[in-house]
Amino acid sequence: MSARKIIIDTDPGQDDAVAILLALASPELDVLGITAVAGNVPLPLTTKNALIVCELAGREDVKVFAGCDAPLSRVLVTAEHVHGKTGLDGPQLPTPKMALQEAHAVDFIIETLRREPSGTVTLCPLGPLTNIATAFQRAPDIVERVQEIVLMGGAYFQVGNITPTAEFNIYVDPEAADIVVKSGVPIVVMPLDVTHKALTTRPRVEAFRDMGTEPGRMVAEWTDFFERFDKEKYGSEGAPLHDPCVIAYLLEPDLFQGREVNVMVETGSELTMGMTVADWWRVTDRAPNAMFMGEVDADGFFALLTDRIARL
Ligand code: RIB
Ligand code: CA
Repeated sequence: MSARKIIIDTDPGQDDAVAILLALASPELDVLGITAVAGNVPLPLTTKNALIVCELAGREDVKVFAGCDAPLSRVLVTAEHVHGKTGLDGPQLPTPKMALQEAHAVDFIIETLRREPSGTVTLCPLGPLTNIATAFQRAPDIVERVQEIVLMGGAYFQVGNITPTAEFNIYVDPEAADIVVKSGVPIVVMPLDVTHKALTTRPRVEAFRDMGTEPGRMVAEWTDFFERFDKEKYGSEGAPLHDPCVIAYLLEPDLFQGREVNVMVETGSELTMGMTVADWWRVTDRAPNAMFMGEVDADGFFALLTDRIARL
């Protein structure tokens, strides 16, 4: 069986970094490129961080592209309070040596979807959806060529983490998220409802540190830093590894359970801006447009993650 072709769109972010490592450690996936977007920290940092993670995985061959540095129509909101000034706070960070690709991320997404056979490329957004929405606006012909979008974003029963009603990735660029959920592309959503059940614990973090490898050490130190926000806010035992849920789904979909529902994005009211309104109980006649995940086998998720990171 040939490897599944994916593009990872990302705003590293410690959890993005773990997701990228998981993808690069998994031969079932063919990472055609990594496209950076402004989100957790500004674009120059998310771009630099994507390079750092590729080098950490020993994958200087991976193509990394810089994308959009601001949302479609809003002022960028970042999350240094969660991820630190660098976006990858925790361990000392190396200066990346591998070159960034010249092309803009949006051009790369468009050209790749036009080149590859229709229906063979999966988009994996781990941050605000600005790059994806811009590509769809600029080249509407590529929309039907996308195999699937598996994204981390949104929340329903878990409500918001950046406002009382909105999850960060959607809140940063709600107009972009609106374009994506209305695109007609098959979508799998990993909302906070499920990522908040993929929590680190001390034994899970020590399993990374005990690998005795540089990737294992970095993942443990990123998690040590990243988890303080959620532990303080939610009183949880550890940090939700949001973005790796996207990659884990591609590798072992049965780890997750969800429901095909209609999901819409609030783009009108400032009070609920960026809220993902999931018709979970199907009380409207709005057609389902996404598989909205709610459950994860957390032990299975961390077993997969640990097995793969240990291979790097
Ligand atoms: O709300 C969590 C999401 O926002 C994750 O993707 C995290 O990396 C940040 O981008
Ligand atoms: Ca992210």
